[in-house]
Amino acid sequence: MAGEHRLLLHNAQQLVLICTKGEKYLLQAGMQSLAVLDNASVVIGKDGCVKAVGYADAIRRQFSEASFEKTIDCTGKCILPGLVDAHTHPVWAGDRVHEFAMKLAGASYMDIHQAGGGIHFTVEHTQKASEEELFNTFRHRLLRMLRAGTTLVECKSGYGLNLETELKMLRVIEQARRLLDSNISSTYCGAHSVPKGKNATEATDDIINNHLPKLKELNLSGEIHVNNIDVFCEKGVFDLNCTRRILQAGKEIGLQINFHGDELHPMKSAELGSQLGAQAISHLEEISDEGIAAMASAKCAAVLLPTTAYMLRLKQPQARKMLKEGVIVALGSDFNPNAYCYSMPMVMHLACVNMKMSMKEALAAATINAAYALGRSDMHGSIENGKQGDLIIINSSRWEHLIYQFGGHQELIEYVIVKGKVI
Ligand code: NIG
Ligand code: FE
Repeated sequence: MAGEHRLLLHNAQQLVLICTKGEKYLLQAGMQSLAVLDNASVVIGKDGCVKAVGYADAIRRQFSEASFEKTIDCTGKCILPGLVDAHTHPVWAGDRVHEFAMKLAGASYMDIHQAGGGIHFTVEHTQKASEEELFNTFRHRLLRMLRAGTTLVECKSGYGLNLETELKMLRVIEQARRLLDSNISSTYCGAHSVPKGKNATEATDDIINNHLPKLKELNLSGEIHVNNIDVFCEKGVFDLNCTRRILQAGKEIGLQINFHGDELHPMKSAELGSQLGAQAISHLEEISDEGIAAMASAKCAAVLLPTTAYMLRLKQPQARKMLKEGVIVALGSDFNPNAYCYSMPMVMHLACVNMKMSMKEALAAATINAAYALGRSDMHGSIENGKQGDLIIINSSRWEHLIYQFGGHQELIEYVIVKGKVI
């Protein structure tokens, strides 16, 4: 029947298959599950979900070409799962290019933060910005992420700090979730920094007594949909005790724990997150051996952020050790005014070169495992029957070019498809 199915992606030179077989993540030991099919096709149904994946000949026999609303001839091209960015701060006003210059001249991230710049600078600008202005810049950023292949993205608040501006940011994220094509996981990050005029304990009390009850109310009424709770657990920001209190209170109102830990100093964040049942912890440059073991056994994903380690010239997170110990390793761009990078292909490249991950490991980390870090790998992160039809088509006969061509994704990515819709 004409138009019975939404989309046929036909005859790709290579299709990257991640056969999770119901598993929600991919460990290094299971890398053979990331396989490549030659001469393959994908069928996406009316509901925007994958209906069939397989060799082109078999799909041709099973489905008549006339039954599709649209067909894309993928001869000579590769099909990959849509990329998942597990960590971004994309809603803010005012860039920090002047701080980039200061850092190049030798200032550290914390020097600038403690002098009232960094997050504080962005908070000042974001508090003043209108919701409309924030939405417009955010929309533009999401579009750039989509063009770079990101089809599911985690988006944090955290440049408001006061309740009013945090809610403004969360409403902007909600508006994008409703109106735009990108799939979004929304994160409340009111504990991103201690607001001027308060100490960390006062800020913690304010979050627990005022912010979280309001979030609970808005989440219940369906006005917004916040999925995760985040804290910047760092020396001079929120210590382990404040972090524990905030995350616990967030969990009690139904949010997934997903926070910044062990970035600039060893904080035992990994141990804490594993204890609290965190879905994911980001950064982890300063994780301890015990923290690695705890995350592996708690199945808590490690979201590694190669752009930040690169930008701030930090020591690299120990990706190889984490992979060997059975930690679920995911990747994120950490897009924010400090690390201005939209591109998961560049993130994968940096992960390979600087963190010594293989290209297969990097791709799994930027797809299925990043989806796991957001609790969304049941519907995202791989091209499998029943999952949402999110994929990218690159104009190259080998999928690895997406990672190999550093900064080349603009020319390489020919189609981005979300829920079966060609963007
Ligand atoms: O993940 N470390 C804390 N948060 C961000 C930086 C945010 C900012 O500097 O504006 C990060 O790198
Ligand atoms: Fe971050």
